[in-house]
Amino acid sequence: MTHADTLETIMAERTSVRAFLPDPVADDLLDRAFAMAAQAPSNYNTQPWTVCLASGNTRQRLEDALVAAFDAEGFSPDIPFLMDGYTPLMREWMARHLVAQQAAFGVARDATEERRELLLRNFRFFGAPHVAFFFMPAFGNEREAADVAMFAQSVMLALTALGLASCPQTSVGLMAAPVRTVLGVGDEVKLLFALSIGYEDRTAKVARLAQDRLLVSGFLTRFA
Ligand SMILES: Cc1cc2nc3c(=O)[nH]c(=O)nc-3n(C[C@H](O)[C@H](O)[C@H](O)COP(=O)(O)O)c2cc1C
Repeated sequence: MTHADTLETIMAERTSVRAFLPDPVADDLLDRAFAMAAQAPSNYNTQPWTVCLASGNTRQRLEDALVAAFDAEGFSPDIPFLMDGYTPLMREWMARHLVAQQAAFGVARDATEERRELLLRNFRFFGAPHVAFFFMPAFGNEREAADVAMFAQSVMLALTALGLASCPQTSVGLMAAPVRTVLGVGDEVKLLFALSIGYEDRTAKVARLAQDRLLVSGFLTRFA
């Protein structure tokens, strides 16, 4: 196998997993994934990411706090989610995604209560034993967010290569207030998203969704 074959396999294997086994992952395996991802590029090598990794009691306290805070106050994002600006093409992909996800979880499109249950599954980290929170500096904008995103994708690919599964979650990232309270994080950073981490429950039909992608010709314009 060439390096390209190996990378292609890992990139195809990486998917957002939404059903985890409760078994905790050994610290050294998680450390290795983050150490591999630390090779990610960043503007001027500034590496502007900060990660809080919650397991055990803290993970449980977060789950409880997110569910309670959502019922009491709803979302509390550090960074607004500007979905109103989605282009027609983005809307189409989002709609396809929601249909696939709601079908996998057995949720009717118009069932408000069931859709809320889906959101709560996010707050329960889909049963994952670990959840990582990705922060960027509070002063930063898209530049620092791009650095953190490249780092986060590197973490996800490293986890996949190590036989682990993950799910990136903006839904959890929109709950900055309770996350900040439980983790004791100050306002020098803002929360981008969370990443649930663990071993995939391969018996669950909701674990992974089969989804299409744009063809390269759909996003790449060549100039010569
Ligand atoms: C930044 C980011 C935030 C996401 N937030 C959520 C989320 O809150 N809940 C969820 O179930 N999936 C979330 N996803 C997963 C996407 O739905 C998923 O990446 C997309 O549908 C493509 O599927 P795949 O990751 O399985 O290839 C998020 C993905 C990214 C990159």
